Amino acid sequence: MHSIPSKGRPYNDILEEMESFRQKDVNYHEGRTWSLVYHLNNEHTDFLKQAHGLYFSENALNPMAFKSLKRFEHEVIRMTANLLHGDENVVGTMTSGGTESCLLPVLTYRELAKRKKRFGSFYPEMIAPESIHVAWEKGAKYFGVKMVSIPLQENYQVDLNALIKKINKNTIMIVASAPSYPHGVIDPIEKLGQIAVDHKIPFHVDSCLGGFMLPFIEMEGYKVTPFDFRVPGVTSISADVHKYGFAAKGASTVLYRNMDYLKHQFFIHQDWPGGVFASPALLGTRPGGAIAAAWAALNAIGMDGYRKIAGTIMETTKILIDGINGIEGLKVMGKPAMSVFAFTSTYREVNIFAVGDQMEKRGWHVDRLQRPEGLHAMVTPSHQQVTEKYLEDLKVSVEIVRLDPKLGAKGNAAMYGMIAKVPFRKLIKKEVLKMMEKMYGPECEMPLDEPGKESLPIKVVVKILNKINWLRKK
Ligand SMILES: Cc1ncc(COP(=O)(O)O)c(C=O)c1O
Repeated sequence: MHSIPSKGRPYNDILEEMESFRQKDVNYHEGRTWSLVYHLNNEHTDFLKQAHGLYFSENALNPMAFKSLKRFEHEVIRMTANLLHGDENVVGTMTSGGTESCLLPVLTYRELAKRKKRFGSFYPEMIAPESIHVAWEKGAKYFGVKMVSIPLQENYQVDLNALIKKINKNTIMIVASAPSYPHGVIDPIEKLGQIAVDHKIPFHVDSCLGGFMLPFIEMEGYKVTPFDFRVPGVTSISADVHKYGFAAKGASTVLYRNMDYLKHQFFIHQDWPGGVFASPALLGTRPGGAIAAAWAALNAIGMDGYRKIAGTIMETTKILIDGINGIEGLKVMGKPAMSVFAFTSTYREVNIFAVGDQMEKRGWHVDRLQRPEGLHAMVTPSHQQVTEKYLEDLKVSVEIVRLDPKLGAKGNAAMYGMIAKVPFRKLIKKEVLKMMEKMYGPECEMPLDEPGKESLPIKVVVKILNKINWLRKK
């Protein structure tokens, strides 16, 4: 049992200890990770820390108290609205991240639909492609809205015919991606906008990944299918400053075409003994540092800087995509719109998860996709220096797996492969829940692959398979 040390310790000792704890974390500085961190360069990071530090204690909960923070938020929203071709009526709020920018529109459109309905039963539903970020499932769950998932076509865009069939009187919103997290593909936003207009349904574009990338690559001459407020029918957009905006973590935006939508996001309670309470988004206390650093990032990088960065990222992405497609047995999935993509194996004997294991052995932090199986990458400036090594290691990894296909039945490959194939998906959910209970329980058991110790996920899979065998025998 841990308790707060009875006697405080010197700052320096603690900082040193924390440095030592970091040693086992993934190494993003050298481009070894392909998600989680959007690192521009050390100079920019130091600048962000300073901007963040200036507002370390400030709280945007009360904009009257910290007028400078309100100004930063307002200007970040205006700059983002402008970037996404919104007119002067576009409004929005900053949020703590992509997830909050996905949760809030679910609440907003549910409230809007409820107001419009006024009487009768209310069973709100939202429609989204299967590839939509999982944060939307979370939103549906949190706000009591039924998620209606639409299958993808072969090109990984949502199937419009299937989508139209699911629209009914309970539909409160449609949401699609620009681009999607799994395959980096932009859904057919213009057609969806038309469907939304025809059916008078709000339509949100999740551009958490693309909001600060697609506009700049378009300026650089890349073809980008319209995805923003230029498209009639798009009523709101989420765009993360803490991803390709290269701000500090904890900064995103959610924008609406006008106040008629945004006002349903606000929370006001007039009778609380603590005073009349008004809040624009999910959080109560809103960390000032993240808002200030987002404003600072946009001002420091500027349009010219973002265009240059986007250009470099796209060049790096092209090298990677061409290189991967050039490796026999691999292919990039669909047509990625920008710098997010996934690839899979074209050979039966090459298990893509086993390739992932080999890459991990070579020091790469690998993200895996399921249904269909693949490996995932989000390209950032730090990857420019590692393309050659990555492709070289990938080629070797594919060759190793091709020569020893049994690797697909070992280690993490076996585990992820089995998880992807388990037919009873609810069993996975149940077992993962147990795993989380252990991780967040008093013992804090971590799913670590320590030598000689079976990792928690492996135990979970073994349990699931045993259960399936038992069910089959019955
Ligand atoms: C398309 C999309 N939407 C939403 C999110 C959630 O963002 P966050 O992790 O900042 O909460 C992500 C994260 O990668 C994303 O790719």
